[in-house]
Amino acid sequence: MTSKEYIQKLRTAKYPLRGNKPKAMKAQMKIFESLDDHLMPDVYGNGEVIENFEKLLSEEFKKPGAIFFPSGTMAQQIALRVLCDRRGLKRVAYHPLCHLEIHEQGGIKELHHIETVLLGDADRVFTLEDLKEMDDVSVVLFELPQREIGGQLPSWDELVSMVNFCRERGIYTHLDGARIYECLPYYEKTVEEVGQLFDSVYVSFYKTFGGVTGAMLIGDEAMMIEAKIWKRRHGGDLYQLFPYIVTASEAYLRNKDKMQGYYEGAKAYAGKLSKVSGIKIIPEVPVSNMFHIHFDETPEVVMERLAYVIDEKNIALFGGIATNTDSLAKTEVYIGDAYGEVEELLVDQAIGLYEKEKLG
Ligand SMILES: Cc1ncc(COP(=O)(O)O)c(C=O)c1O
Repeated sequence: MTSKEYIQKLRTAKYPLRGNKPKAMKAQMKIFESLDDHLMPDVYGNGEVIENFEKLLSEEFKKPGAIFFPSGTMAQQIALRVLCDRRGLKRVAYHPLCHLEIHEQGGIKELHHIETVLLGDADRVFTLEDLKEMDDVSVVLFELPQREIGGQLPSWDELVSMVNFCRERGIYTHLDGARIYECLPYYEKTVEEVGQLFDSVYVSFYKTFGGVTGAMLIGDEAMMIEAKIWKRRHGGDLYQLFPYIVTASEAYLRNKDKMQGYYEGAKAYAGKLSKVSGIKIIPEVPVSNMFHIHFDETPEVVMERLAYVIDEKNIALFGGIATNTDSLAKTEVYIGDAYGEVEELLVDQAIGLYEKEKLG
């Protein structure tokens, strides 16, 4: 079965277990119907609609300022540039598989001429020991959870000791917190407590939250002033951003307090899947609402079987199936509202059917 055929099949499943059920465009448009008749759009980054949302996030994180960006890619490159300029050294350190390193066509290097230092090994989170070995840098970027390795996290104590290590050396810390709310139940911390560790934080509104798109950069006043200038330089000051802001803030407010349930759902689902042969779960016990699965078969074989489960049970156990470095199938699971909407018995039956077919 090809990926295209499988994706088409996925769309027919009544019960997708991953994330939140995708919203049709019309459903997204409905959000606008509840707006105050007289609320005016933002204009080039100013206006009530954008400023209120920025204020909300800066208050949540108890940091002086926040700026809404059309993308996290833009927000983070700018945050790192500002912090590098502040320290007078264009060098940052981050995980070998962080978003900037593998998904942004080298934007940080090409646009900002910032040198990058890779910390630790690709298949684990970096540690204090890795930081002790690194060359001098202006910023260390922490990605919590570390998405490409199944959303692993350092322990809270390790995280605090790494941040303290940086602080003592005058090195800034930036948090890629695209999914930071998703880490709070494991850390048993508030977003303010996590945010206070870092000089700047980026949050995404279209991952678990399910907004259309958009990001917030949160930090001190001086960073906000400079980041606004860079946002203009990057072409990020769109004339009006309100379609993204309205949908992002609605999704954020609707979902931000549901993370404990999603985390419990991820642990429960991973627990069930861990008993299925030919499946490896990373991390073995999830530490957020996300985990990765590596299969012992090719994507074609796995997709074929998952499509059969959809035909028989109307359940999509997973989303898209990708290929890992061993040319075998892998997938990313993240739990949102959809998982809790399906009866446990049905989930068990679907997993049972998958296993039966696997064992032949
Ligand atoms: C961890 C992480 N950081 C940054 C980004 C970039 O976000 P955007 O798509 O808004 O540019 C993503 C997007 O997938 C991400 O997963």
